[in-house]
Amino acid sequence: TQSMIEQAQKTLRDNDLGGYTVPTHGLYPFQWNWDSAIVALGWLPFDETRAWEEVTSLLSAQWKSGMVPHVVFHRPSDTYFPGPDIWGVQNTPDSTSITQPPVLASVVKLLHQHGREQALSGEALHTVVQQLIRSHLWWYNSRDPENTGLVVSYHPWESGMDNSPAWDEPLRAVPKVQWSYTRRDTSHIDASERPHKEEYDRFLYLVDFFRKMNFDDTLIYQDCPYRVNDVSMISILHRGTRDLLALCHDLGIENAQTQYLAHRMTLTEEAIGELWHADTRMFHSKDTRSGKLCMARTSAGMLPLFAGLVSHTQLPLLINELDHWLKNRPFALSSTHPEDPNYEPQRYWRGPIWLHINWMIAEGLLDYGCTSQAERIKEASRDLLYVSGYNESFHAQTGARSGGADFSWTAAMALYWLL
Ligand code: DGY
Repeated sequence: TQSMIEQAQKTLRDNDLGGYTVPTHGLYPFQWNWDSAIVALGWLPFDETRAWEEVTSLLSAQWKSGMVPHVVFHRPSDTYFPGPDIWGVQNTPDSTSITQPPVLASVVKLLHQHGREQALSGEALHTVVQQLIRSHLWWYNSRDPENTGLVVSYHPWESGMDNSPAWDEPLRAVPKVQWSYTRRDTSHIDASERPHKEEYDRFLYLVDFFRKMNFDDTLIYQDCPYRVNDVSMISILHRGTRDLLALCHDLGIENAQTQYLAHRMTLTEEAIGELWHADTRMFHSKDTRSGKLCMARTSAGMLPLFAGLVSHTQLPLLINELDHWLKNRPFALSSTHPEDPNYEPQRYWRGPIWLHINWMIAEGLLDYGCTSQAERIKEASRDLLYVSGYNESFHAQTGARSGGADFSWTAAMALYWLL
């Protein structure tokens, strides 16, 4: 174990570009939003000051609107596509024009709670909390302007689960870009582990669309051809708001803004049942353009556990599904259910296992008192480290590397959670 810890620390140090950690060199040469949040947890046990730098460097790219972008281009690199020229944002620091699951607030609460040195305190901590409050207000106001209780996402890249089969249907409504381009991801990683060109064509159409709309939240909400209630995003946001409000309470911050956030949480609690399906006995995302649930069975459908959004009648049904999903599987938890027709055990979010998702599900299970399932997922996660190391994700059947190697968030989950 000691050598595993040292290797995980080395992975973070090697990926550290000074204040922010790249997910892995080459494939992802910038700062990614939810990667950085998870990575801060990895720095925490051995370099608390550095853990907070991960947070403050990400928040340095927060937009005036409050949005924390999905990728921050602190400095140039030619190993990734699409870069800042395609996004066309021109902020300082430059960034993409979309966001990612806001796990940062939950992470900040943990850094504050478990930090031995209180490496960030006083005025600096208050600044971070204010930035998070602005971010969460932006989430509810701009992504749920009609007070439905369920925020929307505008791009599969926002989910972080880029090519999940959940997005197949809503993505079909998006036209393909008409210009030609050269992908860089498939020069680092075998194409069988990445999304298809057909998906990239539509991903890029959306990127163009945001630029044409001048990044205007109101226009995009009205006209975006892709507008999805992502159950993972909704769950992570809900848990994040809860953690943020708990942190505010600890710090004596209580005002109209925190009250408003608490009110928005109640709207989500009232609406989440719309994403439950009685036949699959789990949660699904919803295409708000067609009004239909995205019926693929994915690990995202378990994330309401992390948010405390599962009702007492749903809980035993959901756990039963989870037990079945885990039974006789050498590794867990595949991002797409092995019995789903679109399951591909090696292709990015259509099957491979992701440890930060496992961590969130396990945390949720513990909150609901389902300790044996939480333990099972934790052990399965640890096994993967010993089978193939600190990879981006893991082949759902063999546990082999899927995607990039020497990957920051997997090393971080090892340091914070597993070792
Ligand atoms: C990619 O380029 O694969 C990323 O997931 C986009 O965020």
